[in-house]
Amino acid sequence: PIVTTGELITRAAAARSAVVAFNIVTLEHVEAVIAGAEEAGSPVVLQVSENAVKFRHGRLLPLARAAVSAAERAAVPVALHLDHVQSDDLLRQAPGAGFSSVMYDAARLSYAENLTATRAAADWAHAQGLWIEAELGQVGGKDGRVPLDAHEPGARTDPAEARAFVTDSGVDALAVAVGSSHAMTTRTAALDQDLLKRLSATLDVPLVLHGSSGVPDDQLVAAVAAGITKVNIGTALNIAMTGAIREFLGAHPEAVDSRKYLGVGREAMARAVTRIIGVLC
Ligand code: G3H
Ligand code: ZN
Repeated sequence: PIVTTGELITRAAAARSAVVAFNIVTLEHVEAVIAGAEEAGSPVVLQVSENAVKFRHGRLLPLARAAVSAAERAAVPVALHLDHVQSDDLLRQAPGAGFSSVMYDAARLSYAENLTATRAAADWAHAQGLWIEAELGQVGGKDGRVPLDAHEPGARTDPAEARAFVTDSGVDALAVAVGSSHAMTTRTAALDQDLLKRLSATLDVPLVLHGSSGVPDDQLVAAVAAGITKVNIGTALNIAMTGAIREFLGAHPEAVDSRKYLGVGREAMARAVTRIIGVLC
């Protein structure tokens, strides 16, 4: 069944556990995430990023309708989240398309501009009954850009600044920059667990980890223990899918039926989902 992201996060926070949110790009991603979560017997978040919408020729509804339809029939609770939204037009489509939550991403702006834009987004989202996440500090690697050096000024989230940001913007959750980076294809990120503990002690909203594909299992487990409640995974599914398809087509150079290789890719993503949920939830 469909549930709200807020419900899942509140329940996970009370249990000092986490919810894993997987980025979906194709119909195969939708089916694989739900199959993998059902196999694990755990709730899950399906999230659609603004970049995924751009890939779908700027249209949200094709992925949203597939996600809603699959979520309604799922054997585990499934929530729909709109991820890394910069466009106000896309933000405004969220409730009508079946999303219960959004991540509004103005982290590229200065502190003052991020706060002003995020507060306006939060006011609007709350009036619509949406749960809203924002980002302070910079989790690098977005849009294929070179990740910021983790020690560059502004690259990490400052606890005192984060406290003021959450209070003044009214957001329900905060994505923090603690050493992870988007789109890593090796699991070599080193998280600043000490900073994470300080952020968690300073803030009274759930914390979100982006770029989790590049973080080793033991550090993800430690991050959840230190206060991360939502773990965002995108690239790991694409690594699983692409690797399986590459292997299949290498072994079957005569193959032309798209169901054969997409099926293999979907299976590989479902196994990755089950594994990650098993480690974290
Ligand atoms: O918002 C999405 C996540 O931060 C995904 O990051 O593709 O590096 O796992 P990732
Ligand atoms: Zn992200």
